[in-house]
Amino acid sequence: MSDDLKKKAAQAALAHVRGGMKLGLGTGSTAAHFIEGLAEKVRAGLDVIGVPTSEQTARQATHAGIELSSLDETPRLDLTVDGADEIGPGLVLIKGGGGALLREKIVAYASEQMLVIADEAKVVHSLGAFPLPIEVVSFGLAATRIAIETAADRLGLAGELTLRQHAGQTYQTDSGNFILDASFGPISDPQALASTLAAIPGVVEHGLFIGLASSALIAGAGGVRKIKA
Ligand code: A5P
Repeated sequence: MSDDLKKKAAQAALAHVRGGMKLGLGTGSTAAHFIEGLAEKVRAGLDVIGVPTSEQTARQATHAGIELSSLDETPRLDLTVDGADEIGPGLVLIKGGGGALLREKIVAYASEQMLVIADEAKVVHSLGAFPLPIEVVSFGLAATRIAIETAADRLGLAGELTLRQHAGQTYQTDSGNFILDASFGPISDPQALASTLAAIPGVVEHGLFIGLASSALIAGAGGVRKIKA
């Protein structure tokens, strides 16, 4: 059911794509549906260039026959289409459940517009039920963990910081970093948390996306609705 809804949101996003566009290609199961649909349009003659937000997306898009570029060759993009783990008021997002938050944020920031695609379950009144992914460098991990805990405590936030694992090993992002998943619970002031985390030297990036999404296509039982920032 949720996968059907993800597919519907992804299909609706295809209507926002025009020939000649430079597209940021998101990561995750919803974005994968979008890439699949985009590839069909490319096979039918649509001319676009994609910049992938992860190695996984690059593989899928290449295999599907979508022409790819990098932000070095194509530093300004028209539109990024990507999923989200949580969509809060004002289109503030939590992203990074798939581990691609750093590249996702760089690509979204380089885009004129970011269109979020998701099923209704992702829309929340308050962010934080989904643990916030925080990408950190491996050097000084224990110190960075304490710095995050201390900074969060100053904001009245507390909770487990879980070092993400994959296949029995510490998960490594495409940029070779680790992820701490922070179970802070409700985040009442995402901007304050974002600034606080960004000021910690060992933190590479966090999964709070603020002021990046321009609109969202949300698929639910009643169809697909659009939310604007
Ligand atoms: C990838 O790092 C994430 O930001 C994804 O966009 C997010 O986890 C949504 O994933 P799904 O579309 O698989 O739910």
